[in-house]
Amino acid sequence: MATLIRGGTVVNADRAFRADVLCEGDKIVAVGPGLAAPAGAEIVDAGGQYVMPGGIDPHTHMNLPFMGTVTQDDFFTGTAAGLAGGNTTIIDFVIPNPQQPLLEAYHQWRGWAEKAAGDYTFHVAITWWSEQVHEDMGTLVRKHGVNSFKHFMAYKNAIMADDETLVKSFRRALELGAIPTVHAENGELVYQLQQDLLRQGITGPRAHPLSRPPAVEAEAANRAIAIANVLKTPLYIVHVSCKESLDAITRARAAGQRVYGEALAGHLIVDDSVYDHPDFDFAAGHVMSPPFRSREHQKALWQGLQGGNLHTTATDHCTFCAEQKAAGRNDFTKIPNGCGGVEDRMAVIWDEGVNSGKLTPSEFVRVTSANAAQIFNIYPRKGVIAAGSDADIVVWDPAGSRTISAKTQFAKGGFNVFEGRTVKGIPSTTVAAGKVVFHRGELRAVEGAGRHIDRPAFVPTAP
Ligand code: URP
Ligand code: ZN
Ligand code: ZN
Ligand code: ZN
Repeated sequence: MATLIRGGTVVNADRAFRADVLCEGDKIVAVGPGLAAPAGAEIVDAGGQYVMPGGIDPHTHMNLPFMGTVTQDDFFTGTAAGLAGGNTTIIDFVIPNPQQPLLEAYHQWRGWAEKAAGDYTFHVAITWWSEQVHEDMGTLVRKHGVNSFKHFMAYKNAIMADDETLVKSFRRALELGAIPTVHAENGELVYQLQQDLLRQGITGPRAHPLSRPPAVEAEAANRAIAIANVLKTPLYIVHVSCKESLDAITRARAAGQRVYGEALAGHLIVDDSVYDHPDFDFAAGHVMSPPFRSREHQKALWQGLQGGNLHTTATDHCTFCAEQKAAGRNDFTKIPNGCGGVEDRMAVIWDEGVNSGKLTPSEFVRVTSANAAQIFNIYPRKGVIAAGSDADIVVWDPAGSRTISAKTQFAKGGFNVFEGRTVKGIPSTTVAAGKVVFHRGELRAVEGAGRHIDRPAFVPTAP
């Protein structure tokens, strides 16, 4: 079965040009002007629109068991919502419980992901350390297509990695040709600040950002960068939310260290005034870590993306409904941390980034797809419109608009941090593995159609 995308402007990270795109099976087979349609091909009219690589969200949590509950979106509903938003690949996380064998957790997550409608691949979290973990990291890299390991520096008494684990795991990752990644927040400081606030009777969602100020994030970012520097490993810092962490990345890069930073669509668009809202459900709906920050930090994050010190945009899609959030009605530390966004990331970043002139369309492709593909070693299979690449494509209507609402979204959870925002520039068609899976508001996601994407280890570049 062939699909021909006709009459659009192809936008890659390096350039934009007028061309048709022909897909056969799950691959792009030709990119050029005036391509003939094979008999029976599905024709997508891209006139007046951009034709871009499908979005890659490098940070999602579908079906995640977390803080005593499980996220609303599973791998089917979450990836389907992603397809509606122009994302064709997610990188999710296997998060073993401390003491749980890595391979057991990995296979558990692979089982849950079988129902995915879009392509997926996994970072694996290192939540504890032993000789077996050291061994299993090797098996994951050599046999299971894993090339990135995640370290939560927060969530004390749960999944937090201490410095011994960070050092041993970073060193092992380097040996294996994998990249370490961190959630940078000092978990001990968060814990102590939480206890202080509870003792003072400050128990509502407003306390959440007070327990996680920018300095708490910056300390961990600086520590992870220092460890990576000593061990000579690359480093990817997830959900950079504040100027201080960005400054640490900028300094490290200027000194020649290979450090990458990820910004979340939520952190770029939503500010911390949401925690002052008198309605518990609204404020708790925004509880995620790191928290939303002030406008000053948002401005810095945009500058980081523009200046090349932040490289990817993600969502940390992790949906909990109001009943789940209500577990923390009398104690903010019990509100499950997480917010959605996989359906909206591309549109809000286009609207706020491209429409305002902060990003060119090619820069948009870089931060929504190409850089993630390169950093996590699936380029040029993903992240570019070119013959031989996967036929993962979003046709982008720059004149189309939509008002975002939990009432009309495909994602579960009944809440949306971008609620009420009208965006100009929306996906009109998403093609995943060569098939039209979303067209003008109609979702044609197929449960189980997504594939696990193996990510090869990095090899030395010298011949
Ligand atoms: O609040 C968040 N971000 N929840 C998901 C887990 C994580 O820290 O990424
Ligand atoms: Zn995190
Ligand atoms: Zn996360
Ligand atoms: Zn519910």
